[in-house]
Amino acid sequence: MAIKYNEQDKLFTLLTQNTSYQIKIGPYNTLLHLYYGKKVDHNLDYLIQTMDRSHCGNPNEAEKDRTFSMDTQLQEYSTFGMGDFRISCLDVINKDGSCAADLRYKSYKIMDGKYQLEKLPSVYETERITMQTLIITCIDIVTNLEVELYYGVVEEYDVITRAAKISNLGKDKIELLKAFSTCLEFPNSHFDLIHFYGKHSLEREFDRTPVGHAKLSVESMRGLSSHQHNPFVILADRSATETNGECYGFSFLYSGNFQAQVEVDQIGQTRFAMGIHPAFFRYEVKPGEIFTTPEVAMSYSSEGLQKLSHNFHKLIRNNLCRGKYKDTRRPILINNWEATYFNFNTEKLVLIAKEAAELGIEMLVMDDGWFGKRDDDFSSLGDWVVNTNKLGTTIKELADRVNAVGCKLGMWFEPEMVNEDSDLYRKHPDWCLHIPNRPMTRCRYQIVLDLTREEVRAYIYNSIAAILNSANVEYIKWDFNRSIAEVWSGMKDENHQGQVFHDYILGLYEILERLNNDYPQVLIEGCSSGGGRFDAGMLYYEPQIWCSDNTDAFDRLKIQYGTSFGYPISAVGSHVSAVPNHQTGRTTPFHTRGVVAMAGTFGYELDVNKLLTNEKEEIREQVELYKRNYELINSGDYYRLTSPYENTDFTSWQTVSTDKTQSLLSVVYHQSHGNSNFYKVLLRGLDENALYQINGEDKKYSGAALMYAGFVLPNPWGDYQAYQYEIKLSK
Ligand code: DGJ
Repeated sequence: MAIKYNEQDKLFTLLTQNTSYQIKIGPYNTLLHLYYGKKVDHNLDYLIQTMDRSHCGNPNEAEKDRTFSMDTQLQEYSTFGMGDFRISCLDVINKDGSCAADLRYKSYKIMDGKYQLEKLPSVYETERITMQTLIITCIDIVTNLEVELYYGVVEEYDVITRAAKISNLGKDKIELLKAFSTCLEFPNSHFDLIHFYGKHSLEREFDRTPVGHAKLSVESMRGLSSHQHNPFVILADRSATETNGECYGFSFLYSGNFQAQVEVDQIGQTRFAMGIHPAFFRYEVKPGEIFTTPEVAMSYSSEGLQKLSHNFHKLIRNNLCRGKYKDTRRPILINNWEATYFNFNTEKLVLIAKEAAELGIEMLVMDDGWFGKRDDDFSSLGDWVVNTNKLGTTIKELADRVNAVGCKLGMWFEPEMVNEDSDLYRKHPDWCLHIPNRPMTRCRYQIVLDLTREEVRAYIYNSIAAILNSANVEYIKWDFNRSIAEVWSGMKDENHQGQVFHDYILGLYEILERLNNDYPQVLIEGCSSGGGRFDAGMLYYEPQIWCSDNTDAFDRLKIQYGTSFGYPISAVGSHVSAVPNHQTGRTTPFHTRGVVAMAGTFGYELDVNKLLTNEKEEIREQVELYKRNYELINSGDYYRLTSPYENTDFTSWQTVSTDKTQSLLSVVYHQSHGNSNFYKVLLRGLDENALYQINGEDKKYSGAALMYAGFVLPNPWGDYQAYQYEIKLSK
């Protein structure tokens, strides 16, 4: 049993392989948090402490007892307005204008299987990975606002998911100003917050900052999860490292505005909470209605960050991503964006596809520029009709010709956008998000469609479906190239504009769900000017996301390092591109670009016809090596052996098969220097007693030798040299 209820002690215990989580129905039916951490199957309510403290109020029922305060107790779901002054999960406005919610325990339910959330992404169970659900219902007896707290327990991965359903069982409307998904409290304050900040072309930079009494917030208010902050964060013990120490990870399965807040309270306790960003959020829940928060997946590791990442990697790969390409090998693709930008036609594309197919590449992706009158980024978004004048053919003819030379065809769309210079905008200027009488903020000369409108969602679906029905298109790159400003919808009155941001995301998920259901053979890759919407919510609909517009192999070391903390390799879109690199001007060896792209979904983004013979030969070798190691790379355990922030000489990583018989070690040197040091790297995840051979050579190494004494690396000669080692159990 992963979930237990002890009626006598009024205790809920959630157990995973290595962790436990405990909740207590406390005095006055308050819902108290007791513990989350290393497995302890024991009644921990002795941890509850009380004390009369000045300015810390007491529940009314406490009468003359001044020791129990909601301002100092650890809680499961904090609310504002009833004497708890720390971060709240729930802020409401009641009909009388009061801002208070007082949640008390009402009932519980334990179920086999994992709850699912209507219209929202959610971790799901499979035959192999079974799950359990706990629902604890709380109620505010004054307004009849009911909150169901959902807990999903994934024993195998040490994961607990959380979400809340907020129902108005009363007679009057209630407005939500904040409705978070999770709250997690700790009796102490020894944490660092690890989060992943960035910008376009440099996403998910690693940052580790101590948590103290000043409130920290990691957030996006851009309408998308954003380049600037990622909705995956970690609370790590100050001493935690890759391989040691306690850490907690939180992944928000949501692609819009979010906030993760953490603070140390006046008596040294830490409260963490996460959910939809409350700014511009005001959601009316009428009598009889329910508001469902998105899900947060949490995990705990007592063995450092590496184990925490493994838990999330497995969860996302096996129990969040869906569809044909969850398990089937994905095609190695070549994308024409950096090869041609807007300047292409069918002949050019077929030439690229033909040469690519000869080198072993399996799919051509036609990027931006094939529709309307689009020759630059000023026009035509929204007009998803092929520009036959430019292409010289229909999509069907293009697909047939690309298929005939041995490639699948994929296509780029930016479905959520419209240009002012487009037939769609001329016909339906009201279909975009805009504030009447206020000039629109332009960003890449495009405006965001109002996905809260049903006719807009139908238009987007039908436009894409028409193309998919007309030709053998097997992949979609779903792009999104701006932040959302002027959030106002003509579909809602002045009292409901605070719903637009969230309803937009629900609209987006609805379209993606429909496409997934109706076109299960189509692989969808997410994108948002690179990795601007790289989150676990999108991965429910698209198993891979273009990681960054920055394809420079050296910059990618940091970008992919940061991304790997919360997301598996199978999610990370990564390509070999031309040099000098189009984003940095840097020249790195072809081999290095291949090694770095293989720490992702692997593909190419250049004109193969312009390559030298030896580079083409390298493509053949890279493709072969990647195919040979596909399972290992995508399903093995991923180890960050060095950090590009700490080791300035080289960056290295390793994937190990779950049975420890195979491993792939990758090493990329940074700039080379005269009179170089001797370098070696300590491997991980091998069987210490087994013998291994490297790159087919006769010499044998024990796992222990490779892991504890290390593997000797060659001396670098020239900048950015890379090495790859296929390690196999010796026969
Ligand atoms: C931004 C994407 O990240 C690029 O890969 C490319 O598809 C362009 N958009 C096209 O406009």
